[in-house]
Amino acid sequence: MNRSDFGEDFCWGVSTAAYQIEGGITADGKGPSIWDVFTQKKNKIFGGHNGNIACDYYNKFTEDIYLIYQLKIPHYRFSIAWSRIFPEGVGRINYKGIDFYNKVINLCLELDIEPWITLYHWDLPEELQKKGGWTNRDVIQWFSNYVSCCVQHFGDRVSNWIVLNEPMVFTGAGYFLGVHAPGKKGLNNFLSAVHHAALCQSAGGNIIKSLQTSSNVGTSFSHSHVEPYRQEDEKDQKAAVRVDALLNRLFLEPVLGMGYPIDDLPILKRMEKHIKGNDMQDLHFKMDFTGLQVYTRELIQHDFWMPFVQARLIKASDRFVHHTIMNWEVHPNSIYEAIKKFNQYEGINKIIITENGAAFDDFFYGESIIDDLRKDYIKSHLKKLLKAKEEGFKVNGYFIWTLTDNFEWAEGYKPKFGLIHVDFNTQKRTIKDSGKWYRDFLSSAGL
Ligand code: NOJ
Repeated sequence: MNRSDFGEDFCWGVSTAAYQIEGGITADGKGPSIWDVFTQKKNKIFGGHNGNIACDYYNKFTEDIYLIYQLKIPHYRFSIAWSRIFPEGVGRINYKGIDFYNKVINLCLELDIEPWITLYHWDLPEELQKKGGWTNRDVIQWFSNYVSCCVQHFGDRVSNWIVLNEPMVFTGAGYFLGVHAPGKKGLNNFLSAVHHAALCQSAGGNIIKSLQTSSNVGTSFSHSHVEPYRQEDEKDQKAAVRVDALLNRLFLEPVLGMGYPIDDLPILKRMEKHIKGNDMQDLHFKMDFTGLQVYTRELIQHDFWMPFVQARLIKASDRFVHHTIMNWEVHPNSIYEAIKKFNQYEGINKIIITENGAAFDDFFYGESIIDDLRKDYIKSHLKKLLKAKEEGFKVNGYFIWTLTDNFEWAEGYKPKFGLIHVDFNTQKRTIKDSGKWYRDFLSSAGL
């Protein structure tokens, strides 16, 4: 397998997100985000960690973008911290925030690295959360205003946009389970956040298109290939369908104009009270590409006592299968299954794997950092991706998660996903073997 097998126009990249790397949480007028506040609460984050400094990318972005250049990675996906641009979420623009992202974008272009902007990667301005955040319908206005501002200021140099990152995860973990910021719980919070985020997905897309006709717009969905725990058991099979609807179809189908997957997940009927006027039509937006983020598969068992879905996930460690530090099963065929499934939807034109990667411990050997498990993970997933492509399924790009070790949300700094090691005491960066492998792979066909 080498790069040329994937074709000349296949996009190769690496992805990051603002809160996980930037630090500088009050620098140059940035306002607080829900993650700045959530990480201060007791017992929410592993080891009491936070993103106050993280990889200090706010000061070290030049070094990090040069590392992308050194690794010969042609596409770079990063997110914008909304509260750097609008410290209060709406109203006053902080031009120092705009300057920062201008520097990032300009450096990418100087080095011939194509920028991809994620507009929302989970760090809502705290001032908006005080008004209910994603559960307040006004978020559509707030978000639209923020999106227009970004396109107006960066759209002369950036044409690739990801409207939302993994909406299912930020609504599910943040507004239902309460394990991510802002730590809200319950079905009502969740369903209103889902509906408003789904409306923002299409509203954001429409705004970008109206301001920049040549734009390349998509959104990024988390996707875990779901299977029944006991393949032959009818109850497990039905439970798997419900979980698939919840985890994988909840945001995808409305944007494709198919509405919410209520038939397979009847609890979604309770969404009705949040739906107004033309909402069901407004959810529809024709994306230029669909971002797909694949890490693992989930095995599902029927569980009568589990509220709303009557189903539970059987953890990888309880199944004694090879898994990462996140306790996610290593299951490369999941990427193949996801690509195949997304190909069956009419209305999906292009598929970009906007994240795939693995958290494993690294081993120092002299000056080298050996991370064969990560390297094997990436290679085995690429092989399955190639298989899908060779069978004629659309798949147009692959971005590794992630450039440097960073703040992994509720798990703090423990899981390390980076192609580059960061010593968080000194902020020294060291390219791991997986990073060198990616560089050599990308150079292999001399494209
Ligand atoms: C999904 C998220 O987009 C990213 O922020 C996270 O770090 C990775 N997956 C790994 O969990």
